[in-house]
Formats: sequence, C-alpha cells, structure tokens
Amino acid sequence: MAMTRAPLLLALLGVAALAGGANAAGRKMVGVYELSKGDFSIKVTNWGATLTSVVLPDSKGESRAPAPFLSCSLLLPSKDPWRACNGTAYFGALVGRVANRVANARFVLDGKAYHLYANDGKNALHGGKRGFSKVIWTVKEYVSGGDCPYITLYYHSFDGEEGFPGALDVYVTYRLSSPYELSIHMNATALDKATPVNLVNHAYWNLAGQGRGDILGDTVQLFASRYTPVDATLIPTGAVVPVAGTPYDFRRPTAVGARIRDVYAGKPGVYGYDTNFAVDGDAGAMRRVAVVRAGGGSGRGMELWANQPGVQFYTSNFLDGVKGKGGSVYGQYAALCLETQGFPDAVNHPNFPSQIVRPGGVYRHDMLFKFSF
Ligand SMILES: *[C@@H]1O[C@H](CO)[C@@H](O)[C@H](O)[C@H]1NC(C)=O
Ligand SMILES: *[C@@H]1O[C@H](CO)[C@@H](O)[C@H](O)[C@H]1NC(C)=O
Repeated sequence: MAMTRAPLLLALLGVAALAGGANAAGRKMVGVYELSKGDFSIKVTNWGATLTSVVLPDSKGESRAPAPFLSCSLLLPSKDPWRACNGTAYFGALVGRVANRVANARFVLDGKAYHLYANDGKNALHGGKRGFSKVIWTVKEYVSGGDCPYITLYYHSFDGEEGFPGALDVYVTYRLSSPYELSIHMNATALDKATPVNLVNHAYWNLAGQGRGDILGDTVQLFASRYTPVDATLIPTGAVVPVAGTPYDFRRPTAVGARIRDVYAGKPGVYGYDTNFAVDGDAGAMRRVAVVRAGGGSGRGMELWANQPGVQFYTSNFLDGVKGKGGSVYGQYAALCLETQGFPDAVNHPNFPSQIVRPGGVYRHDMLFKFSF
C-alpha cells in the first residue's frame, strides 16, 4: 500500500539568503526524501532536484554493501548548501537549463543574441552561475513506499534567468519499480519564448561502492557508433565521426582504463573521457544506451536506457580529493557518469539535433536504470 510520510530531515532556510530572485516568492523548505522498495532505496533533495543516495545490495545479497553512488557530504540544515557541495562536481544533480557547454557563453536564436554566464573559461557550463542544480525545487507529489514509490519536483524558471530566453516550467519525477529499476522523467514546457533546453541527471556511479577505489577496471559498453570530437576547450568541432579504430570505441564491453591514457581531458597532463557519444537509433524512442559492470567483487551491473540523442561519458577526470559521504574522499576516476542528453553546444551547431523548444512545446527526457547484482 502506498503511503506518504514526512521528509526524513527538514531544514527551514531563509530564502532571501539562499536563492535570490528565482525562489523569492515565498519561503521554501529544503528536505531529503527517501523512496524505498525492500532493500532498494534512493534519497532525493529538492535542493537542485538532486539524487543524494542509491542503496542496492551486491552479489552477496549484502544490503549494507557500499552504495554504488557518489554524493557530496551535504548535511542539512545548512545555510549555504552550494558551498558545502562546492557546485563544481554536480553530484547527482538535475542540471539545466542547458547542461554541458555553450561556446563563448553565447548563442543566437531567431536573430537575437543571448549572453550566458561564462563559468568554464570563456564558455558556459551546466546552466551558468546558478542553474537548476543550485535552486530550490517544489515537491509536488511524494509517495515514499509501496509498489511504485515516486517523487515529483517542480521548478519555474523565469524569463532571462541565467541569460536564457522565456519562462519555463520544469518537472522531474524519480520513480522506483521492480526489480531494481530507477526511472527519471524530466519535462519542460516553454511558456512564452523559444529557448534551448538540455536537462541531465549528473549521477556519479561506482558500482563497486563509493569510496572503494576507481572505475578503471569497470567494463563499459556504449551503444554508440559515433561521437562528437571537441576542441581544446571541450567545445564540439561540429563533426560527428565514427568511433571505429579510436579509444572511443565501446561498442563491445571494454575496461574503462584500457585506453584512457590516449584521451586528452582538456588540461595538460589530465587524461580521461568527457565525451558526447551519438546513441545509435532514433532519439525520441527509449533505447539501450550503456551497460556497465563493476570491476571488483561486488558483481553489480547497470543498464541505462534513454530517449536522448547523446550520452556524455565522463570519468571524473577532475575530481580531486572532494569530501564525500561517510568520510570518503573522491579522487580522479572515483566514478563514472553517463549523462544522457542533447549534443553539447547544439544551439551553436545547426547540424546537431535541435534542442530548441518553442512556446507551448514540451521537452521530454526519460532515463531508465536497471540494476543487477
Ligand atoms: C510533466 O511531468 C509531470 C510530472 O510527471 C506531469 O504531471 C506533467 O503532465 C508533465 N507535463 C507534460 C507537458 O507532459
Ligand atoms: C569546497 O571547497 C572548500 C575550499 O576549497 C574546501 O575546503 C571544501 O572541503 C570543499 N568541499 C567539498 C565538499 O569538497
């Protein structure tokens, strides 16, 4: 039987200090909400619509096995959660209005130029200074248990927020279903102007367990025959090229670390994947994107399905001693991210699938994680 219950932990936060314009309409609470189904559970906070925990057994059926998921050590109540989490890793967050990079923090739409906040050199990254991952969302529905526990969060983004055109209504629903499936549904409706939209969930996975070494021994399979090469500032050149014969060929299950030293990560001496792959098949339909198997003894596996044109495969190249849950410290390659998405900088590349949503139009993004152990 479905039941609702109060958030695990609630903190009253003064909105004026916290969120500036976007949430100034009223006082909002930041809480952590648990969804559980037997020995499978997640936690979500309405701070950035962020997934903060995934608990899953391992092959020994050990339900207290280390979580397959990295999270910052955000403890509520906190007067300044964005500082505690530093905001640069985006652990588990819902990133928008436009995730990934926009070249020169600028684009032209319908003849008008728009300027974004440049927070990655001269480029804009992950929605700007205070994107969707750093605002308070409203909990619309919450069912913590039963057959199909879920939570729906809502955010109203105003016209001009972080430089983007037009008001946008955004929803995200996290849902557990059997056996060991987590789905994430995101949608966004443009209310008055055309705008680019590209939402991602930025979960960091280490299936062997957070804090248990790196993911270089995990095997990854990507259902992607092409990828989008980037320039030295990680902006796509505009080409979409075959993975065949490159270190980007993951069409067969391959160890993450097998060729990682051949992949320049955007800074001298730093190697690793931070790459958008073009997922095979028709975007708009749910299709298999990736299969991951833990390298250690946990026996855990994860299959990801989604309806997006691309997937960003990121190997935590820039994690550098970030403090995580339970005293863990996350270093380089501590986790991998599989962010299904529109192609990075699509708004500046007419040959990429369009991410523009017109007034009254709806953007829809579905992800489905199937875990095994
Ligand atoms: C967006 O998602 C919410 C929550 O799942 C749902 O209630 C709403 O109908 C969706 N909107 C559209 C336009 O599909
Ligand atoms: C955030 O950055 C500060 C200053 O660099 C550092 O002291 C702190 O440990 C960082 N927090 C996390 C969660 O990494």
